[in-house]
Amino acid sequence: RQEEASTEDEEFEELLQNFPKERNWVSGFLYFCQGFWVADLSIRSQVSFSQNFVARDNDLVLASCPKSGTTWLKALAYSIVNRSRFALSNANNPLLKLNPHDLVPYVDMDLYSRYRPIYFENIPEPRLLCTHTPFESLPPSFKSSNCKIVYICRNPMDTFVSLWHFVSKFESETELAPIQECFDKFCRGVHLFGPFWDHILGYWKANLETPHKVLFIKYEDVKNDVVFYIKRIAEFLGFPFSEEEERRGLIEEIAEVCSFEKMKNLKVNIDGKHHSGKPNKNLFRKGEVGDWKNYFTPSMIERMEKLIHEKFKNSNLVF
Ligand code: A3P
Repeated sequence: RQEEASTEDEEFEELLQNFPKERNWVSGFLYFCQGFWVADLSIRSQVSFSQNFVARDNDLVLASCPKSGTTWLKALAYSIVNRSRFALSNANNPLLKLNPHDLVPYVDMDLYSRYRPIYFENIPEPRLLCTHTPFESLPPSFKSSNCKIVYICRNPMDTFVSLWHFVSKFESETELAPIQECFDKFCRGVHLFGPFWDHILGYWKANLETPHKVLFIKYEDVKNDVVFYIKRIAEFLGFPFSEEEERRGLIEEIAEVCSFEKMKNLKVNIDGKHHSGKPNKNLFRKGEVGDWKNYFTPSMIERMEKLIHEKFKNSNLVF
């Protein structure tokens, strides 16, 4: 068994040689595999996912580019789908004891994870899952099955600032990585699951072509009217609220339980750790729209605005 494993490892190392490689922002490497950049730590899991994972008709899938509001979307969808199993504000609500990433696994990063391999076959249906994989690179069953996908995206400038803070903390709690180097990589599309424009456009196109299958939402819009989007997501996933639930204020209750302030101040998110060993508190920074204004120089604004115009001009997407 050990021999088999080491042959597998060698074969995998050989396979890796075929992928273009760049230094990641802070430590480790990114590999350009199947049309997007994957971190060295999750590449094995990513390849296994693309070769082995089969989506089911009743799967409920959340999707995003990292730092676009995934944790929030996981909390909202988890609350919507499980609301008949426990009272939201009751201490038994798993969301009050666990981080949303421990409740809604990543199909791509957790499948073969060195930290937490997940046996997706055993998750009770309907499975609530999450992915950072771009739409075009998802295994074919995502397109051929009737599974539903909710995609959240975010203004690329705020996404960059959030990612820059997040990856800096991999190395140091106090010092940020050099912003210009990280920004240059981001603009060249060299970042986790990048390029961000391909990521966003892939799901945007899927939403236009198959709106019953892919719901496309923006972080900024959810911030602006969370109640509207909780209703929208619930309807889309097939868990609409009854009039009686609406009258009881259940939607507002979900908004409150999943709010940034509430989640950031839960014990599990103050001193708990993610299964990879990283502190959960790094997932809750500011939760604001427009924080990029505190970090972008005029030349960064110019470069990013040009990029946004060039990449998104043929879509109706506005950031
Ligand atoms: P900031 O770094 O700008 O604060 P992801 O979950 O995809 O990793 O995205 C992380 C971003 O979402 C971070 O943004 C984080 O603070 C914000 N976030 C996390 N939980 C949130 C919540 N409940 N409501 C709003 N924003 C949230």
